[in-house]
Amino acid sequence: MSENQPNVLLLGPPGAGKGTQSANVADEYDIPHVTTGDALRANKDMETDYGTPREFMDAGELVPDPVVNEIVAEALSDGAGYVLDGYPRNTEQADYLADITTLDVVCLLSVSDSELVERLTGRRVCNDCGANYHVEFNPPEEEGVCDECGGALIQREDDTEETVKERIDVYHESTEPVVDYYREAGVLEEIDGEATPEEVWQELRETIDAAV
Ligand code: AP5
Repeated sequence: MSENQPNVLLLGPPGAGKGTQSANVADEYDIPHVTTGDALRANKDMETDYGTPREFMDAGELVPDPVVNEIVAEALSDGAGYVLDGYPRNTEQADYLADITTLDVVCLLSVSDSELVERLTGRRVCNDCGANYHVEFNPPEEEGVCDECGGALIQREDDTEETVKERIDVYHESTEPVVDYYREAGVLEEIDGEATPEEVWQELRETIDAAV
């Protein structure tokens, strides 16, 4: 790691604020935001040996490991620091990640299931620049219009209540063992993800600064 370009992993359930806080981390440390979710959404209809990512994502299921591993290996290949969000989501992916990079800090954003459902069903994202809003907690100045670029705000296809619940189930089953994996390795830092976005960012920044 160079002094100001840490390798940061943000873990947390769907809707914990990983995307929101990754944008802050990327700005603060001038590092790329590597997110498997965005990369897959940009290639939802790509044909792979396992079918298209869309078939898995719209059902709230994980996209097969080989597809996701390849995305991450390519994205991390320049070695100039990163904030990684959305990966690893199972212990096989965590093993793969350990083979290709060294993490400086692993931060878990903790949020209860009931809060997650409320956040995700109310989330709106900009179709053009990807900025994140919430109809109640973080509304845009003009309804349906992005404050940053004027683009249209849309609801993600996997943010319906039924798919959100499936995504949370998949998190408990497949991704919580990843949390234990890093906790047992002694590198996990837990952050209260239910505080305001500004408070979460303050705690996250202090945690990263203390670790690197
Ligand atoms: P992905 O895009 O990674 O989705 P996710 O993990 O489900 O996370 P989200 O993007 O929904 O939430 P977030 O934690 O970023 O929260 P956000 O900041 O937006 O993955 C989507 C799909 O892709 C998966 O289901 C899977 O199919 C596939 N996939 C991706 N990676 C994969 C992998 N490694 N392996 C296999 N498949 C993979 O915040 C949520 C809302 O809350 C927003 O409205 C925001 O404004 C609001 N908010 C944020 N912080 C706060 C706060 N502190 N207080 C109040 N509101 C807040």
